[in-house]
Amino acid sequence: MITPVAIERPALRGPVPLSHLLVRSCLRPGDTAIDATCGNGYDTLFLAESVGPDGQVWGFDIQQQAITETERRVTEAGLSARVSLIHDGHQNLLRHVTAPVQTVLFNLGYLPGGDRSIITRPDTTTPAMDQSLALLAPTGVLAITIYPGHSGGSDEQQTVERWANVLKPRHYHSWRMAQNNVAADAPYLLFVQKVA
Ligand SMILES: C[S@@+](CC[C@H](N)C(=O)[O-])C[C@H]1O[C@@H](n2cnc3c(N)ncnc32)[C@H](O)[C@@H]1O
Repeated sequence: MITPVAIERPALRGPVPLSHLLVRSCLRPGDTAIDATCGNGYDTLFLAESVGPDGQVWGFDIQQQAITETERRVTEAGLSARVSLIHDGHQNLLRHVTAPVQTVLFNLGYLPGGDRSIITRPDTTTPAMDQSLALLAPTGVLAITIYPGHSGGSDEQQTVERWANVLKPRHYHSWRMAQNNVAADAPYLLFVQKVA
């Protein structure tokens, strides 16, 4: 007789669960991952669970409120030992983290429940994405959730799309994943894998 195994079945409501599904399949215990935009800490917690006790997660945010909330969330989950939170912009990734990194997550836009005028911006997102590629191990992945709908979101969308479109296919698999049956300015996912 086959014993049924409880397998979590994700609800693919929006790009964030899709990014988690893909990232989870790419991470291994002991890996290093970066949450480039901690916000309320949900992505940092997801990465901390995915890398296991021997893994390491680096989390960045420019807002102290986000760092504090993320710290609270990972501490409550008992995972703070594997998480290093940095109150600094992701455009300074290389000042804090050394290669190799298996995953970098970006969840762009503003802090939900926070100040909506503090948003990720193309002039800092672009160097952060470049630095992420420099840190990625072969087969490592970069997952970027884009929110075109808010003020400033469309400019950032165009910049990030241009950046992703010119990545050399010899070096990177660059994907765009958008849900069909939603508004045209709904959030969606860009996913980049460094070739082995
Ligand atoms: C959509 S929220 C992130 C959501 C988050 N990942 C979560 O799980 O709740 C975007 C975050 O990016 C942060 N941010 C904006 N510019 C940044 C920068 N240059 N470097 C790092 N974080 C930045 C904002 O402060 C905000 O908290």
